[in-house]
Amino acid sequence: MLQVLRDRIIEDMTAILEEWGCEAVAVANPVEINEYTDEEKGLVATPVAFQLASELGRPPADIAADLAAAFRDRGPIGGIDTIETVGGYINFHVDEAFTTRTLEVILEEDAEYGVVEDTVESALFEFSSPNIAKPMHIGHLRNTVLGDVLGNVLEARGYDLVRDNHIGDWGVQFGHILYEFEQAEDTDRFESEPIDYLLELYQRYGRHEAELEEKDRTDDLEQLRDTGREYFARLEAGEEELRALWEQFSEASRDRFETTYDGLGVDFDTWHGESFYVTESWTSRVRERATESGIAVETDDGASVIPVFDDDLTAVEDPERADVRTDADVAEDDTDHEAFVITKRDGTTTYGTRDLATIAYRVEQGYDELFYVVGSEQREYFQQLFAAARKLGYTDVRFTHVDYGLIDLPEGSMSTRAGRLITAEDVLDQVRENARSVVEENDPALDAPTTSEIADGVALGTVRFENIAKRRTKNTTFDTERATSLEGDTGPYVQYAATRGLNILLEADEVPEPGVVADQPFNEFDHQLAVQLARYPLVLERCEERYDPAPLAQYLLDLARVFNKLYHENRVLDADQSRERRLALVAATVEVFETAFEVTGIPMLRRM
Ligand code: ARG
Repeated sequence: MLQVLRDRIIEDMTAILEEWGCEAVAVANPVEINEYTDEEKGLVATPVAFQLASELGRPPADIAADLAAAFRDRGPIGGIDTIETVGGYINFHVDEAFTTRTLEVILEEDAEYGVVEDTVESALFEFSSPNIAKPMHIGHLRNTVLGDVLGNVLEARGYDLVRDNHIGDWGVQFGHILYEFEQAEDTDRFESEPIDYLLELYQRYGRHEAELEEKDRTDDLEQLRDTGREYFARLEAGEEELRALWEQFSEASRDRFETTYDGLGVDFDTWHGESFYVTESWTSRVRERATESGIAVETDDGASVIPVFDDDLTAVEDPERADVRTDADVAEDDTDHEAFVITKRDGTTTYGTRDLATIAYRVEQGYDELFYVVGSEQREYFQQLFAAARKLGYTDVRFTHVDYGLIDLPEGSMSTRAGRLITAEDVLDQVRENARSVVEENDPALDAPTTSEIADGVALGTVRFENIAKRRTKNTTFDTERATSLEGDTGPYVQYAATRGLNILLEADEVPEPGVVADQPFNEFDHQLAVQLARYPLVLERCEERYDPAPLAQYLLDLARVFNKLYHENRVLDADQSRERRLALVAATVEVFETAFEVTGIPMLRRM
């Protein structure tokens, strides 16, 4: 309802400005949406008169007065009661019909509220993407939740997404692990604790390197590194025994990841890890393309690289504006560039080769846009990757690196007890434990299975909320204790409000049509809540603009607060004159909670 109003006001304004012959100014920030509690402002307001003042050479207040008159002349706008000016502002005040219409729309549209029906574009949406042979770390937890929720937001906004888990399952480190695995031959250990064991082997190789380095045994060090590289080269060349072992590593890791994703309620359409692009020959194809087009150049030691210049990176994500240099000759005399390596001197692929191959594959699948949810530390790498891809002729697709800041724990990322890095699973266990105590404390009378069930829901609500609450580019600290609390800016606080609403509805027998009970009186708390409900589609829009679900988390907190206020200030089921209309309001509130929970993956609980 609010975005309908906004769009109508912008439409009228554009028409008026056109009549006035000054549409050129039609303008950076045409309308603002205000808080319902800012009474002297309208819910919708426009500062456009200020922006026109210098062009028209008149004071903003005069322009505003004329503009407001012109708006009124165009006839009434549904939902708008009065149009007033204050200084240079034009304020649009909403009426009772706006409230009623808002409730009607929500109850009619149900889960479709705020959802855009037309498909606007098709995109490959890559997120999570942990590395095999290791446990997931908390960065992957943030990525997984942020990615999943952003994916849901984009789908609600009309994107047709394929969700891909681009797992890190290839690279020279598997040469190292395979080498150590063969040295140790401890298959029992692998079978009982595959991931811990593989991590140990990986660390063992690192330790061997460090030892040789420390003792200055340069030749032995070179030898070890050659061996590691050679193992990877053999794996990449397809040597059967190594492949079979690698398969086992991969499978064990995927199983473990699946368990984590199940707990988080996350799903993918595809799991095309890095290996896929090697084994399906996409890496070979993309190298051929680079060599044949003359884009790749040979270095002295026999590697093959794509030179990437600083000015190649300008607006490289945008197919309309990207502009890269494609003449390879330039590389001869111009050394001021980074080398994007696509073939190492031993002939093997790099992380970058595999990413270029991934782009080749995805472009062939015909997507309009490729999303990469990957941490900010890979920002530069991705800019270079996109520039390299543009040089190879992948010029029509849009690239979007959705980056995010670091996540840490209050106590740091090392577990003093276990003497190792804290994993995503450790954090999830901690949250589950906290959630259990919160639920037990809140309602000691619950039986054990019910407690567990609710605790699981609270834990998921905590993890989901906490990982999207901060603006994505900010660093964040996951304080599991604080995040699980029922008070404060937390997931459980929001869940609690929703549960309260749900229980009011369950107690009522029937929810009336908002239009039928529209003459029952609403006070300011009712109106404030209705306006908050009307905002929801605009919030989804903002999340899309920023590629960030944080505004949705903030919205849910606000909604919970406004609803709690209503609950404390107004009677619902035993209200004198407003019972039915308030029930419709509560029903609409629960509907918006449900819809937003669907998007964020926060469970709606019947009891808490
Ligand atoms: N596996 C990588 C990591 O855990 C992230 C992969 C990012 N995606 C990509 N297309 N390179 O850091």
